[in-house]
Amino acid sequence: MTKTTAQTARPESWQGARTFVVERKVAECDIITSFYLAPEDGAPLPSFEPGQFLALELDIPGEKDTVRRTFTISCSPTDPAFYRLTIKREPPPPDQPDAPPGLSSNFFHDHVDVGTKINVKAPAGKFFLDVASDVPVVLLSGGVGLTPMISMVNTIVDQGNGRDVWFIHGTRGRKEHALGDHVRQLAAKNANVKTHTVYEKAGPDCVKGQHYDSEGFITLELLQDLLGGTDFEFYLCGPPAFMKVIYNVLYDWGADETRIHYEFFGPATVLREGAPPPDEAAQDSGAEDAGQGGTITFAQSGRTAEWEPKFENLLEFAEANGLAPASGCRDGICQTCMVELMEGEVIYAEDPIIPPDPGFVLICQAKPNGDVTIDI
Ligand SMILES: Cc1cc2nc3c(=O)[nH]c(=O)nc-3n(C[C@H](O)[C@H](O)[C@H](O)COP(=O)(O)OP(=O)(O)OC[C@H]3O[C@@H](n4cnc5c(N)ncnc54)[C@H](O)[C@@H]3O)c2cc1C
Ligand code: FES
Repeated sequence: MTKTTAQTARPESWQGARTFVVERKVAECDIITSFYLAPEDGAPLPSFEPGQFLALELDIPGEKDTVRRTFTISCSPTDPAFYRLTIKREPPPPDQPDAPPGLSSNFFHDHVDVGTKINVKAPAGKFFLDVASDVPVVLLSGGVGLTPMISMVNTIVDQGNGRDVWFIHGTRGRKEHALGDHVRQLAAKNANVKTHTVYEKAGPDCVKGQHYDSEGFITLELLQDLLGGTDFEFYLCGPPAFMKVIYNVLYDWGADETRIHYEFFGPATVLREGAPPPDEAAQDSGAEDAGQGGTITFAQSGRTAEWEPKFENLLEFAEANGLAPASGCRDGICQTCMVELMEGEVIYAEDPIIPPDPGFVLICQAKPNGDVTIDI
């Protein structure tokens, strides 16, 4: 039986930010917590594609500007009443232990509770499961990169059409392992769902077959053992090092590149030597001549500089001028870099996935077209 859900009867998406209220907060492991968001107006929610994210606008005490971050919806689209986000508490980088910890993720863990209101933009993103396909799927995740995969595996189970799916997850150990019981239960109840969890290091409290299946890393040998071949659609999400290794393992094994789909939670990096980075690919679309430049005024800091065409975008230009504006994906996806365009006009190499608010600019994607003043 195919459970198609009530998607067709669900409302259209919304424009701008909508107020949501946290209905539940559930710790999934020591460092990852889920937040169930329901719309304040109580109206049913638009559906979404499994793998898509929400862009949030956060008012964080002590922060002068709105903080913008994106988080993947970690549930399936079946339930019209809420969206779930599953968020890792981001520590300082290992090589800079004295740096401030992640702003928004720690705010969520420490200060967002049942009843907290959050401004949310409609689901968006191009990394999602092709639900119309019946090709077997391999979902490969590292760390908190499992969130889109959870949405995808839940959706396949909800569809009830027996599509084969492998959920393969690598993480440091049990303390960092979210939603493990959930995935194991799905595999126990559905013959088409198979799972394998790799702990970098299993502690004394970890039971093989219950918490994890093997120790070390996800390797070619492991994938060959589990999958037996590459005739799958592959979906990848995890830290850059994980993505690079897994992508190359699949590529060298002979997987069809067009069937390897991936998303970065931070700045995109080159996955395979020789392949153009995503932003170079964007330039190849013929947009490299766009943006004539002029005088760039950074209003908050009071600095002014002449645009130099060697820069890819206003974000890089601001950084080269000693400023440190907020940024995330640097790929036009997350809206973290959105700032007010106070004067002038900009040009985008590629249309951003979520257009900036009227009067604002995504500086990681925009070049100036003449004199420009931005609120940095
Ligand atoms: C499409 C997409 C989907 C995503 N989905 C998820 C998801 O489902 N779950 C999830 O947990 N995350 C997800 N993310 C990541 C998320 O959006 C945030 O980037 C992440 O939570 C970190 O944000 P933050 O505000 O906590 O950290 P930030 O404040 O942005 O800091 C990032 C890092 O920089 C360090 N840092 C801060 N200031 C300094 C400094 N002065 N010097 C040196 N280092 C510094 C911090 O310690 C931290 O390690 C997603 C990202 C994208 C693009
Ligand atoms: S940094 Fe993500 S949209 Fe600009």
